[in-house]
Amino acid sequence: MLPAVTATRYVTPLREGGSLPGLMEADDLGTYVVKWRAAGQGVKVLVAEVVCGELARALSLPVPALVTVDVAPELAVGEPDVEVQELLQRSAGVNLGLDYLPGALDFEAGADGVAPELAGRVLWFDALVGNVDRSWRNPNMLFWHGRLQLIDHGATLTFHHHWPGAAAAVARPYDATQHALVDCSPDVRAADAALAARVTRPLLEQVLRQVPDDWLDGPAPDDAPDAVRARYVDQLLARLAARDAWLPPLVAAAAEGGSRRRAPRGENRPSWLGPPPPAGMNQR
Ligand SMILES: Nc1ncnc2c1ncn2[C@@H]1O[C@H](COP(=O)(O)OP(=O)(O)OP(=O)(O)O)[C@@H](O)[C@H]1O
Ligand SMILES: [Mg+2]
Repeated sequence: MLPAVTATRYVTPLREGGSLPGLMEADDLGTYVVKWRAAGQGVKVLVAEVVCGELARALSLPVPALVTVDVAPELAVGEPDVEVQELLQRSAGVNLGLDYLPGALDFEAGADGVAPELAGRVLWFDALVGNVDRSWRNPNMLFWHGRLQLIDHGATLTFHHHWPGAAAAVARPYDATQHALVDCSPDVRAADAALAARVTRPLLEQVLRQVPDDWLDGPAPDDAPDAVRARYVDQLLARLAARDAWLPPLVAAAAEGGSRRRAPRGENRPSWLGPPPPAGMNQR
């Protein structure tokens, strides 16, 4: 199981996040970014965070430490924003905490480089888990002490939002054209050679054991937590085994880079703005 801590103080909401994650202090003297069980996206987002966070960690990808955070509703009283206060109250009980990385800088696609080897591993991993939330617009990566950190895995494993359609997701190609690292010459073949053999049934079972029973919700309302865990394990193993379907297009997308995403300069310029200024001029 993940380490369990108890929240002792609500510090502030993190306004950047769509799900209004909160900063909290806990009884282990740690500070955590807390993702709420009652947030609009639902508790499955927390399952995805744990499964992908712990799978990434097992594959030596850098992710902040995860804990479960027991939150008492009384902690909401200091929060002036009513929306946040209600969210916190409705989330009483077990929530997800990520170790807060103070002073971390947001990754900026285009400005920040990542080595092809690491970029390839991140791209391969995101394709395996179907991460639709690591685009150049919203990279969900931080630099902390000069090292890349992957965060925000809530928008992965999207098959669990509709179990009857899960089989159709197994071989679905991954759209990497908007990925934040597709311009970094990601070495996807090397990543596949290094990582695929490490994703084993025992590893996935160990990862799924970290998810609290209470958050697991399977195809049928009365599915036992371990039966739901087995569904995730089988789905991820099937996805891994279907690499013939998704790996070649991923390699091709990585080779092509993100060149297609940028419109030629001036192409989306409204006519009333007149012709574009000469290249090299600061446009702000
Ligand atoms: N562990 C952390 N340490 C420091 N800052 C963090 C951490 N986790 C998240 N943040 C900051 O908070 C922001 C929001 O976090 P995150 O992306 O996980 O939330 P979200 O609500 O899922 O966001 P989104 O709007 O992308 O759906 C991040 O962009 C980052 O700036
Ligand atoms: Mg985010």
